[in-house]
Amino acid sequence: MAVKASKGGPVSRIDHCVDVHLQSIGDTRGSLIVANQGKEIPFNFRRVYFLHQVPPGESRGHHAHRRLEQVLVCVAGAVEVTVDDGTQSRMVPLVEPSTGLYIPPMIWRGLSRFSESAVVLSIVSEKYDEADYIRDYRDFQAEVRR
Ligand code: TYD
Repeated sequence: MAVKASKGGPVSRIDHCVDVHLQSIGDTRGSLIVANQGKEIPFNFRRVYFLHQVPPGESRGHHAHRRLEQVLVCVAGAVEVTVDDGTQSRMVPLVEPSTGLYIPPMIWRGLSRFSESAVVLSIVSEKYDEADYIRDYRDFQAEVRR
């Protein structure tokens, strides 16, 4: 979903950060939620990880990725995700497990206001690679402008 710029690499805007509606199969025994590659998840995924036991008041993220695409799903509790394309930012509350958020490359993201016992699942397109991270906001802005 990242959009190619006329010059240089891919650029993304916060309106490319879209809700992802996962398949929900519920009956009297409870709820089962499914994320299919190529259907609800718009990229091939190589890795899954989750955040949990985040202390009250703590925040996570505060970085962008050059290539990695991601879907965040708050599978328990609630969290606020702020996405920022270097020009605009937007806060997206994740409050239920069947609606995730797609984040394309070159979007700065922060996760905050984790509720007690929140669990945030990440489904991502790339193997872990520290070189794919931009961890300084000014570097991010410079790369976006480039
Ligand atoms: P990071 O992605 O910065 O977490 P967050 O954005 O939630 O704050 O990762 C935290 C640390 O864990 C960092 O040292 C990198 C390491 N890490 C791995 O070794 N493998 C992984 O798959 C991930 C996601 C992180």
